Amino acid sequence: MKGKKVLIVGGSSGIGLALAKRVSKKGGEVVIASRKAEEQKQKLIKNEWLEQCSFISFDITSISDINEMFSKAGAVDHIVVTVKSPLVTGSFLNLDSESVFSAFNTKLWGQYNLAKAGAGKIKHGGSIVLTSGSLGTRPIQDYSTMSIICGAVNSLCKSLALELAPIRVNAVAPGFLTLKTMEDIIPLGLGDSDQLANSYLFLMEDSYTTGTTIVSDGGAALV
Ligand SMILES: NC(=O)c1ccc[n+]([C@@H]2O[C@H](COP(=O)([O-])OP(=O)(O)OC[C@H]3O[C@@H](n4cnc5c(N)ncnc54)[C@H](OP(=O)(O)O)[C@@H]3O)[C@@H](O)[C@H]2O)c1
Repeated sequence: MKGKKVLIVGGSSGIGLALAKRVSKKGGEVVIASRKAEEQKQKLIKNEWLEQCSFISFDITSISDINEMFSKAGAVDHIVVTVKSPLVTGSFLNLDSESVFSAFNTKLWGQYNLAKAGAGKIKHGGSIVLTSGSLGTRPIQDYSTMSIICGAVNSLCKSLALELAPIRVNAVAPGFLTLKTMEDIIPLGLGDSDQLANSYLFLMEDSYTTGTTIVSDGGAALV
């Protein structure tokens, strides 16, 4: 990561923040972007490793915000997206369409529009890493919205790997980090943000991997 500039969209908390720390400690330059990134900076800056990071506030659901964010971030080596949409759960027949659209707008169309606006900002040898989720290949009851979004992100990843080459495009599909009802069912239990950060690092660093989704789910797909 030394000498590399990594834009982490959704890097102000959770998996994105854990990745920001890892990239920074490996000598990379980190730009964190999210809706409240600049506010978060005041809280997070106590961490010494964050002193070298820059912060940009923007909303991934707005195309003009995305363009403005890229004009502030400038050219980058890698773009990672770890933005989380509002969680929409419940029986398919009873789901409120507005909530479903809102989740799609953030996690699917957000990543789609970001990749479109960002492709031209990536330096030679660079990559995009998207985030889907294990629900994209292994749905569970009452999570249809998240399953459909994650499945679409996996397809987006493959299509963009073809269309944007030599820019590499990959995705990470996290399993369950917080859903307590799954804790005793999954072979390795619930995951944490640090464990997930490994997959993003690998995908940025491995120069021959593209169109791949790494599933990091503690074996959730097996049960
Ligand atoms: N945690 C899990 O159990 C789990 C399981 C499977 C998949 N995943 C996926 O893994 C990814 C990361 O999850 P996480 O748990 O680490 O999430 P998180 O801690 O909630 O972080 C989400 C990040 O997205 C940013 N964000 C949210 N809406 C945004 C918007 N409209 N525009 C710009 N930034 C926005 C948030 O910052 P602001 O509030 O400042 O905008 C924050 O930095 C997500 O795609 C999630 O769906 C997570």
